[in-house]
Amino acid sequence: MSRERETWATRFGLILSMAGNAIGLGNFWRFPRLLAANGGGAFMIPYFIALLLLGIPLMWVEWSIGRYGGKYGHGTLGPMFYLMARESVKPRTALIFGIIGGMLAFAVTTLLNSYYIHVIGWTAAYAIYSATGSYYGANTVEFFNNHIANTSMVLTTWFIPMIILFIAAYRGVAKGIELFNKIMMPLLYVFAVILAIRSITTGAPVRPDWSSWAGLQYSWNPDFETLRSNFWVISLAAAGQIFFTLSLGMGIIHNYASYVKKDDDIALAGLTTASLNEMAEVILGGTVAIPLAYAYLGPDVVKQGSLGLAFMALPNVFTALGDAGRVFGMLWFLLLFFAGWTSAIAMYNYLVALLEEDLGINRRLGSLIVFILYFLLGLPVALDSSLTYFGELDNWVGSYLLVVLGLFDVIVGVYLFKPDNLWKELHTGALIRVPSLFKYILMTLTPIYILILLVGTTIDYYNQGVFAQADPLIVGARIAIILVLIIGAIETYYGIKKKYSKELAENRK
Ligand code: PHE
Ligand code: NA
Repeated sequence: MSRERETWATRFGLILSMAGNAIGLGNFWRFPRLLAANGGGAFMIPYFIALLLLGIPLMWVEWSIGRYGGKYGHGTLGPMFYLMARESVKPRTALIFGIIGGMLAFAVTTLLNSYYIHVIGWTAAYAIYSATGSYYGANTVEFFNNHIANTSMVLTTWFIPMIILFIAAYRGVAKGIELFNKIMMPLLYVFAVILAIRSITTGAPVRPDWSSWAGLQYSWNPDFETLRSNFWVISLAAAGQIFFTLSLGMGIIHNYASYVKKDDDIALAGLTTASLNEMAEVILGGTVAIPLAYAYLGPDVVKQGSLGLAFMALPNVFTALGDAGRVFGMLWFLLLFFAGWTSAIAMYNYLVALLEEDLGINRRLGSLIVFILYFLLGLPVALDSSLTYFGELDNWVGSYLLVVLGLFDVIVGVYLFKPDNLWKELHTGALIRVPSLFKYILMTLTPIYILILLVGTTIDYYNQGVFAQADPLIVGARIAIILVLIIGAIETYYGIKKKYSKELAENRK
């Protein structure tokens, strides 16, 4: 290694940055939407099972893979998987695993972020709309559709997160990313707590049976009957959400962990990340949107659980709160903005690391190149106000590729690297001991669970007719995914080849 690798400045900053990475729109927007649409309390049961069997174990694996790769100067998945697979197979076989990991992470970090940053842009716009009371008195569904169709507004507000992303990435891990997280994450918590308190103290302003309390009960009462009759759909949605919300299967936990010093604890830090995310999701995320919407708009609106909960339903609540609603509305959308931005920067940085480490492009130029890349990839999202292209990308990248990548986390990080090595790696410098029960969970239940999730989602897509759709925007999204996968594979191949050409040529174990 010629140059000293960047590291996090402080442990506090690392934890806040990892929390920022995991805590995102997934917690405050996706989670309440899924919870509401999947029977409330019925959703919580498979959700917590997936957290225990998938989420937390995989979190430890990804931290371990990441810090391990960082020791060799790598912050991207291709070389990380390559090095770990080398423990069991010859270099050229390991190269294949490297390419699979690198290609999947590349596709996720480019495409998922290309629409995710747009949603962050909407939150910026809506923070402004709230402050100015723009949607007051309007039909909020029409208002939202008008916003999406207002290309100049969409493009302008999209640039706000884009430019801050660029600045943070340009300044580097400690001076940029960590610093921004140290500012945004505490604010996020403060806003979330204010909104949560406002929400549970709402009472029943409209109808006696529409109380915020009844909304909380809807989220928390385990409803076994609903779960039994929709077992598959609810379980799949819950497991998919665990992946999404913990930022698993994306390459970005690995990337952030690669900047941890080589003997610093990751066992407790990984668990802390998962816990902070879950607190933000279940307690804060679960307390704000649903009870408020329940109290003001009633159970029917809540249960629709549409994309509209954050952008269409809640604005009606803020309107009902009068002038104070402008402030609460602004806090809500700023909260979403910070949550989203601190996740998007992780994806952004993954690509900066890739350019830096594989192609020798320095961070500053790299940050600019990634900016241009997201600009180009984000344009079709901005121009398609039907959100068809967006939806299809989300179907495959945001809900499917993650899970495939998670399976390879286990194949490579647990099996090929060997379970005992992984356990040793996880415990190097560890502040806690993870019960070995989790090692066996990782070897058995976790991969089985992931496989069931993959097969189940595929069947579910088939039944929903996802495969049969042939709208040009949908076909376009699929072509984009395939192209990006191919480019990711080629890039990873060269990245690994460049650094390990000698051992690949010899191909000895
Ligand atoms: N964990 C993030 C969330 O809950 C997921 C994510 C990370 C999405 C990075 C996009 C970019 O929102
Ligand atoms: Na999250």
